[in-house]
Order: sequence, then structure tokens, then C-alpha cells
Amino acid sequence: MDQKNIGRHFILLGFGCLLVSITFGLVASLQYVVPHLFGDVLSFRTTRPLHVFLAINWIFACVTGVAYNAWPQVAGRPLHSYGLAQIHFFMHLATVLVVIIGFFSGTFSGREYLEFPVWVSGLIVGYWLLFVYNYFKTVHPDLRGAPVYIWSWTAGLVFFLITMTEAHLWLLPWFNDNIIRDVTVQWKANGSMVGAWNMLIYGSSMFIMERVSGNTTATRGRTAFLFFFLGFTNLMFNWGHHTYVVPAHPVVKQVAYIISMTELILFANIIMKWRRNMGSQTPPNSVLTVTFFSIADRWILMNLALAIAISVPYINQFTHGTQITVAHAMGTTIGINTTLLLGCVSWIVEQSVSRASRKHIILASRWLHWSLLVFWCSLLVTGFIRSAGTIGSLPFVRITEQMLPWLRVFSLAGVALVAALVAIIISLVKPILVRTDVA
Ligand code: HEM
Repeated sequence: MDQKNIGRHFILLGFGCLLVSITFGLVASLQYVVPHLFGDVLSFRTTRPLHVFLAINWIFACVTGVAYNAWPQVAGRPLHSYGLAQIHFFMHLATVLVVIIGFFSGTFSGREYLEFPVWVSGLIVGYWLLFVYNYFKTVHPDLRGAPVYIWSWTAGLVFFLITMTEAHLWLLPWFNDNIIRDVTVQWKANGSMVGAWNMLIYGSSMFIMERVSGNTTATRGRTAFLFFFLGFTNLMFNWGHHTYVVPAHPVVKQVAYIISMTELILFANIIMKWRRNMGSQTPPNSVLTVTFFSIADRWILMNLALAIAISVPYINQFTHGTQITVAHAMGTTIGINTTLLLGCVSWIVEQSVSRASRKHIILASRWLHWSLLVFWCSLLVTGFIRSAGTIGSLPFVRITEQMLPWLRVFSLAGVALVAALVAIIISLVKPILVRTDVA
């Protein structure tokens, strides 16, 4: 393993997680339609958490790879310690393998999104500390006058550690013995964890937007910093919209609602301005990046509309826990996080992508967008039928019958989505495997 290529190893790990994740996602979606598919050997109780765990690891591994690639460029010097980055890589890989084995051998526990034995969290915190150490020693972030992406990376790295600590407070009886305190803290931690990975992805995306356009003023401008501070506030307070069912003070919920909506508007605005400023002058080696970032921009706006609707407390009590929440989660992690990451990876490898592959990727990116739209809409309709049926006190069997055709559409769109993702991954992985000097 060539240490200098640590970024690309993380990107490959991310793609590996994504491929396995979408396979389990596909099986889980088929289990909506055929509930006993694979019996107890591979039930929905295993496929769902495995799919989600690996999807989250796709995001973390890929953004780590992009960051390891970017930091030496920002600092103008090599990474402080390639050796520590290598240990980080093997610890991350070990975590993924241990958790997968744990799921199949029935050794899992913990809470939503962290469904593994508690000691695995020690491994995660361990490798994260190495990541943070390498960042501070390489970039020496001096926040005064620094571009916004330095602020984002710093906040994302530090807050992930705080969030991981919060997510384990349930181990203390004072939290665990009180259901309201427990649920509130758990969702506060989960909301902030998403906030932390968003900080890392937005930071990396803004760094790349600066490199593509050559415009260094936008990442130091007022809008960019307004966006950062909103995102940061979001990271700390947006969790309120996850806990409307908890009898917390109404002000907490109102603040959370307002804050969580504003952040996305600003980020969409930043990407739109960046696209407009470049006009027809997209550098030939950034066509793919611009394509993926533009798709992300559309999904930011669509998810924003959905988030505004489902965060209204009255609507939330009917949609909470239905497929509408799943649409919100997958709409953002696929439509925004995944497309931004694909744009970031494209920027790293694009000069080694052949013209034919570039055409394939652009075609597959359209597939990705349209199949995701059908996938997302079918989840929304399913969730709507379920909420309406619950309000109308319909028997559950009746509700399930009505949902079934839409769940079939969801599974079919899922197949198209998987095909698009696989085509993109193959085309992006090829140059990473062939060129050893990439990342
Ligand atoms: C980049 C790709 C993907 C990402 C990042 C992703 C992410 C997620 C996340 C975060 C959840 C948890 C939702 C929640 O807690 O409400 C989820 C659930 C799920 N995903 Fe995906 N997903 C991806 C692709 C897919 C695909 C392609 C399929 C099917 C073909 C799929 C099927 C499912 C199913 C069935 C669930 C469980 C929903 C439930 O709890 O009822 N996902 N996914």
C-alpha cells in the first residue's frame, strides 16, 4: 500500500461500503413486497440496519478520502503523518468488518444508527482522533481570515467527537432511567452527527468549487460565512425537529424548525451562484463535478420543500415514523450527500477519465436523478397512504393493501437507482485503480 495514496484508499473503501449497502437496501426493499424473502437467515431486521450502517460508512469513508486529498493542497505541504493515516484506514476497515460480522452472528446492540457493541465506538473515536490530529498538524488552521471550508472542516471534525460522546450518554443511569431525557439526548446526538458529516462534505465541496472556478473571494464572502454559521447552529439545534413527540419546551421546537430550513436555502444559493458565475466556461476537466453538484442543487431544493412540510409540528405527528421520514432521510443522503461526494471524487480523478467514460457517467447521473425522483415520490405516496389510513382508523391490513403497488414502484425504481450507481462507481474506480498518482 503506497502511503501517499491514502485518500484513494478511503475512497475505494467508501465505494465498497456503498456497493454492499445498496445490495442490502435492494433486498430490504424487496422484503417490503415479499416479507419472508430469505426467511430468518436474512430478515429485514438485519438487512435494514446493515444497509443504513454501510450507507453512513460510505459517506464517512469517502469524505475522509476527499479530505486527505485536499488538506496537503490547502496547506502546500504533505500530510503530517501518512503512517497515522494508514492506521486510521485499517481501523476504519476493521470497524466495518467487525460490525458486518456482528450483524450476521447476532452480536449487535446500542442505538439507532450505532447498532453495534459499545466497544466498537472506542475504535471509531480512536481513528477519529488520528484524523483530527493529522488535520491540525497538516493544515494548522488559523481561523482568522481563513476561507469558509477551513471553518467547516474544523467544526465537523471536533463536533463529531462531541456527538459521539453524547450518543453514549444513555450508558449512564441518569439518562437511561428517564425516557424523555434519553430520547431527547439520543436524537440530539443523531441530529448533530448528521450536522458533523454535512460540515465535512460542505467544506470539501466548497474547497473544490473554489478550485474549479479559480474564484477565491466567494469562499471568504459574507454569504459563505452566513451559511457556515447557520449550518453550525443547525448542527447544535436542528435536532428539535426529530423530537416533536417528546414533551420538551415549545421554544426548542420553534427554534429548531426555523434554523433547519434556512441552511439549505443558503447552500443551494451558493451552488447556483457558482454555476452562474462560471457560465459556459466550465473547465473541461470539471464537467463531471459540475454535473453532480448541479444535481445536488436540485435535490437540496426538493428536500427543503419536504423538510419544511414535515417539520410543521401538526403534520409531523402524522408523518413521523412513516415512509415519508424515510424519503427525507434517503432524499438527503442520496440526493445531496452522495451526489456532492461523487462530484468531489470526479474532481480528483476527472483528468484520467476517458471521453467515453465521461459520457457514460453523465448518462448514468441522469439515470440517478430520475430514478431517485421516482424512488422518492413512491416513498412519499406510500407514507401518505399510511398516514391517511391511520387518521381514518383503517385496519392495518387494508392500509398495507393500498400501499403495496407503490412499494412495488419503490423496489423497481431502486433497481434502476442501483444500476445507475454501479455504472458511476465502475467508471470512477477505473482511473483510481489504474493511476497510482491519483489522490
Ligand atoms: C446512496 C445510496 C443510499 C443511501 C445513502 C441510503 C440511505 C438510507 C438511510 C439513511 C436510511 C434510513 C432511513 C430512516 O432511518 O428513516 C435508509 C433506509 C432504507 N433504504 Fe436506503 N439508501 C441508499 C440506497 C438505497 C437503495 C438503492 C435502496 C433500494 C433499492 C434502499 C432501500 C432502503 C430501505 C428499504 C430502507 C429501510 C426503510 C424503512 O425503514 O422502512 N436504499 N437508506
